[in-house]
Amino acid sequence: MKEVFLTGITTTGTPHLGNYAGAIKPAIEASRRSDTENFYFLADLHALIKSTDPVAVQQSRLEIAAAWLALGLDSDTAVFYCQSDIPEIPALTWLLTCQTSKGLMNRAHAYKAVVQENEDSGSADPDKGITMGLFSYPVLMAADILMFKAHKVPVGKDQIQHIEMARDIAQRFNHHYGEFFVLPEAVVDESASVLAGLDGRKMSKSYNNTIPLFAPEKQFRKQIMRIKTNSQEPGEPKEADGNTLFEIYRAFASKEQAEEVRLRYNEGIAWGEMKQYLFEHLNSMLSEPRERYQELIAQPDKISKVLDSGAEKAREQSSKFLRELYSAVGISAFH
Ligand code: TRP
Repeated sequence: MKEVFLTGITTTGTPHLGNYAGAIKPAIEASRRSDTENFYFLADLHALIKSTDPVAVQQSRLEIAAAWLALGLDSDTAVFYCQSDIPEIPALTWLLTCQTSKGLMNRAHAYKAVVQENEDSGSADPDKGITMGLFSYPVLMAADILMFKAHKVPVGKDQIQHIEMARDIAQRFNHHYGEFFVLPEAVVDESASVLAGLDGRKMSKSYNNTIPLFAPEKQFRKQIMRIKTNSQEPGEPKEADGNTLFEIYRAFASKEQAEEVRLRYNEGIAWGEMKQYLFEHLNSMLSEPRERYQELIAQPDKISKVLDSGAEKAREQSSKFLRELYSAVGISAFH
């Protein structure tokens, strides 16, 4: 039996270096193995939790789709689709919602972070601004994963809790109705899981500190030069681990290359020199994909076709599985 890999990217914002390191790179690598089956998708229903700007969501769907393809995802070997094209996913979300304890959702980091912010700002309502979408976000994500019986889910470290929640929810459903769901595991590349952004915090659209994958070369260089560093002087030995420049480099380099640069840190490489080095490395890796990306963005029809055929393949599985699940819970035709 083949191992099933699955991951999604929320379609808010422009594809950035963190998307590549956390999801796209490990996913494409898995899709090139002959012993895997692969499901990769645009999490556009998840985008609605974070954004009420239709134009931005639509643009991001196009850009993230183009990024996957430009970076080398082969849509013949992997099933590549939009979450919103699979109506069985929201249907499964409901079945799972009925097996999800509210206490489990109370513990979700993303929800708790907003409650904390409300409390810190002295708001009278700890749930201020929190929608049911945000609160039950992990259930939708569990449906994404469980629908296609994924074994492995490449994600950034910040998503591990969601995968654990998917396991919990799956176990409870299985306990009541039989062994329908596979229990998924997160695949986290320790060296590249959560990239830091311009300000040193996690690279995330929410912090507005992302470095886009496909900005024009000049702009791209500027972004790299803007990454925050400390006041250590050239010649002073520097700690590589945890340094934003080093971590980004490591996510895009081989082990050997990373070790070489680690030595340069010990020798006291200047921040300016390291930035230039990082820029050149990334730029040479990204210049071809950047061209492909621009070509794809200019042909949205082509992207739509790819996604339509992906959805068709995905639905062969999801429609059949949802019928089995409905029947298991007591919803099927009267004979
Ligand atoms: N929540 C993920 C993120 O923000 C995106 C996502 C949605 C996802 N559904 C998923 C990732 C299923 C893996 C599997 O990064």
